[in-house]
Amino acid sequence: MDEGHQRAASGDPAASARAQGRIDPISVTVHASAEEACAAVAAEVVDLLAAKPDAALGLATGSTMIGVYRALVGALEARGVGLGRSRTFNLDEYLGLPTESSESFRAFMDRHLFGPARMRDEQVFFPASPGAEPGGHSVRSARAFEAAIEEAGGLDLQLLGLGGNGHIAFNEPGSRPDSRTREVELAARTRADALSAFGDLGQVPRRAVTMGVGTILEARRIRVVALGEHKAEVVARLMAGVDGAELPASYLAGHPDVRLHVDAAAASRLATA
Ligand code: GLP
Repeated sequence: MDEGHQRAASGDPAASARAQGRIDPISVTVHASAEEACAAVAAEVVDLLAAKPDAALGLATGSTMIGVYRALVGALEARGVGLGRSRTFNLDEYLGLPTESSESFRAFMDRHLFGPARMRDEQVFFPASPGAEPGGHSVRSARAFEAAIEEAGGLDLQLLGLGGNGHIAFNEPGSRPDSRTREVELAARTRADALSAFGDLGQVPRRAVTMGVGTILEARRIRVVALGEHKAEVVARLMAGVDGAELPASYLAGHPDVRLHVDAAAASRLATA
């Protein structure tokens, strides 16, 4: 039995993928800590902005991004780089929340990045407004969002988190690789994951608007961040080469410049070799 098969037999998902002739789909950097992972991603965004101050950035929400934005705000200040000429495009937004809800992704971005980095309303784009009603999101506004990305010259860098069920943005299992910005229904697992923020499952929105997988894949560079033990399983599935609609993040494997940044806890179910 060769080394790959021995590892596969011991339940190592990456080795199992190699043994079956599949390659690790995405380059991964394992950091000693979550802080290091966030700092590495933030440094890359600042490098991009230093070279291209009018860069178009694709932004994500979720608890993972809190540390990334904290590191980004610090690194921008430390290096004297600003976001003033950039345009930002958020991946997704819930539908059916009260306009002033503190749980909207717009409110999240205001708290963690737009406020601290003193960004202006006209720089920031979302695929829907907080408070928009489910079913009310027209194809026309989805197209307008995509047109705004195009007008900005396309996304230079897209930040992504990983849903526990392998979703990217709100492209849930079953999403097509060529999907575009659209209204979607949230998976039960996704709504359960959001419970702690809303306190009561009845308050968790059922629908959202999300950038499509196809839209995301058009970004020139994609950086995915997954932190903590609770992401170890989905990271292992992704790196084991599970592919197709059941794990939408696996569609990233075909992208020419994608990297996954994880901390040791999120990497704990990966091979070390
Ligand atoms: C939501 C967002 C995703 C994000 C995910 C992970 O579902 N729509 O874009 O990747 O949350 O969130 P967290 O970072 O809190 O684990």
